[in-house]
Amino acid sequence: MNDPTVADLKKVELHLHLEGAAPPAFMRDLAAEKGMDLSSVIDGDTYVYTDFPAFLAAYEAVCAALETPDDYRRLTRAVLEQSRDQGVVYTELFVAPTITGTSTDDWADYLAGMEAGADEVPEVECRFISTAVRHLGPELARRAAEVTVANLSPRLTGWGMGGNESLFAPADFAPAFDIAREAGLGLTTHAGEVEGPDSVRDSLDALRPARIGHGVRAIEDPALVDRLAEEGIVLEVNPGSNLRLDVYPTLDDHPIDRLLRAGVPVTVSTDDPPYFATTMRDEYTELNRVFGWTRETFDAVNRVALNAAFCDDATRSRLMTHFEETAP
Ligand code: ADE
Ligand code: ZN
Repeated sequence: MNDPTVADLKKVELHLHLEGAAPPAFMRDLAAEKGMDLSSVIDGDTYVYTDFPAFLAAYEAVCAALETPDDYRRLTRAVLEQSRDQGVVYTELFVAPTITGTSTDDWADYLAGMEAGADEVPEVECRFISTAVRHLGPELARRAAEVTVANLSPRLTGWGMGGNESLFAPADFAPAFDIAREAGLGLTTHAGEVEGPDSVRDSLDALRPARIGHGVRAIEDPALVDRLAEEGIVLEVNPGSNLRLDVYPTLDDHPIDRLLRAGVPVTVSTDDPPYFATTMRDEYTELNRVFGWTRETFDAVNRVALNAAFCDDATRSRLMTHFEETAP
């Protein structure tokens, strides 16, 4: 039965790209301060692109307006205020030492800016996942991993990889993941979003992540679904993103509910919400409407997310109280 009040639940979000969550008005104003014009990629309150490669290109074009550590402080604050207003109590933000606009040389200063922005929104507990941008190649990925482990900050607890999954092979990035693993960072990688089950399997074998970003196309291989369930590999699922990028035509076709029923640990996130015209409240409303997910389902999914979060156990226990079935 439809229950629109699920939108009001507290939420854990594990998969949110810092720059991809930037409110369009924030980016337009920031660009205007610098005399830059982003009108080719921002139209009113939306970002403009066609398909997946064009989305990545638009994303990078927008990032050009983020030039200083203080820009990143303001961005982090704006994004976390948005999360707070969606009922998110814990979030992990993908940040990228090699994205346009930042330089690995100054990474410590940029990261300090992000930490300062996070300090300004204490209502949302936040951690950063430093990421390689896959289409920039294995060499830059390794450099990003090196600069990451040499400049850890209190909230930098994870390492991952986004970008164009169709380029290079997961094994090419094993050296970067090894550096992060040795530093004790939690590991995740995008796979099974635009590519199929082989991409997920190869990523698990070569990179040994605890979580997979998206991973939804694992549904095409029942043996892989069993493996995800048996090994407890957590999927950071982003239904609205998958619809907007044409991975599935409608939510009815989306495998999140089938994966859940098969025992795969699934979680719910928004990826790059303004790019995909979604919010966490919208995702919860739609999952309730289409699959009948109840408050109990969401509490269970959020417990899975918190157990897989790249945070310390004291933080985990404190936040877990929001997701006990008996909570008011
Ligand atoms: N970077 C930001 N969003 C992404 C996505 N959905 N897939 C791959 N890389 C990304
Ligand atoms: Zn993503």
